[in-house]
Amino acid sequence: MTGHGKHELQNVQIGGVRLMLGGFHEAPGEWIGQQEILQQLLACWLVVDKNDLPLAPRIVGTPGIGKTALAMAAARKRRQELYIYQCTADTRPEDLLVTPVLAESGRIAYHASPLVTAMIRGGICILDEGNRMNEKSWASLAPLLDHRRYVESIVAGITIPAHADFRCCVTMNQDESTYEIPDYILSRLQPTLPLGFPNRQDEMAILKYHLPFAESDMLAMTVDFLQHAHELKLDFSPRDGLNLLRYAMKRLAQHPQHPLSKDQTWHEALQRCLGDDALDLEALAERRKRSLGGDAVPLGLGDFFFQPDDPLHPDRDDDDQHSDEEDDDGGEGERDDD
Ligand SMILES: Nc1ncnc2c1ncn2[C@@H]1O[C@H](COP(=O)(O)OP(=O)(O)O)[C@@H](O)[C@H]1O
Ligand SMILES: [Mg+2]
Repeated sequence: MTGHGKHELQNVQIGGVRLMLGGFHEAPGEWIGQQEILQQLLACWLVVDKNDLPLAPRIVGTPGIGKTALAMAAARKRRQELYIYQCTADTRPEDLLVTPVLAESGRIAYHASPLVTAMIRGGICILDEGNRMNEKSWASLAPLLDHRRYVESIVAGITIPAHADFRCCVTMNQDESTYEIPDYILSRLQPTLPLGFPNRQDEMAILKYHLPFAESDMLAMTVDFLQHAHELKLDFSPRDGLNLLRYAMKRLAQHPQHPLSKDQTWHEALQRCLGDDALDLEALAERRKRSLGGDAVPLGLGDFFFQPDDPLHPDRDDDDQHSDEEDDDGGEGERDDD
């Protein structure tokens, strides 16, 4: 179970101001499969020389694909305290740094955010769903994300330097309703680590890891569904699979005397969790393709971040995972020659 850990140090004095620190995140999560991207993230956090600095990468991918889980697993590998800041559209700079709170004594107490607590404790901070945050809040992080490694809290009137062990990364979803992050910030959030869908074997292991009590035929139907969706570049994710499988198992458990048909129960879960669209993936893929205007099929997340011929494009043909389906369903392949 996740929870909140308390460390012995509850507050610190910086520039004459007492800052109350927050608790860290206790996450048991294991990362399954896709070791390369985990190694890439860990590499960003290495310091290889006394003149070197760690990097603050952005992990990008569709919702539910495992971005937060990846960052949590990397923090665990480094055995550092983990802090997660959930970015939202109305996150203000003071929320991100230091918030004044009226204490019982009637005085102002200053509370350090998870980010600032990580900076002080030498922990790791995940800025989760960073593209939901507005430019003003991002601007307050500019000095932290370059060689200066400090933040200035206007509210508390202090400059807070980051501990040498402090590390951070940002996760970003590709969806609407998000702010355009300014270039001077994006240039500080390097490199970009695009997370793709797990392969069949890994996806099965992920579902089994989180739902060890799930029946094997239910697991198999779920993995088949997800893999089919990934092939069609539809954005159904491991999280969707976990939700539908969890619901299906609950429905089955309700009727131990008169067992429900597994197939029917699974389809009910699919429809209730993912909607009618999910019942016919081929038709959904076809509709998506048409509404996006034929030849350009920007369904892969990579298309939003990279030019088609960019060597970093996760869907590029010479990728290590060969994608032979590009050739045999005509039309899709045209994306490469514009
Ligand atoms: N490779 C993986 N290993 C273990 N769990 C995973 C993996 N990929 C996804 N998951 C699980 O899938 C769910 C969704 O992942 P999450 O990190 O919340 O997605 P995102 O942050 O991209 O929206 C979580 O329960 C997560 O633990
Ligand atoms: Mg997340």
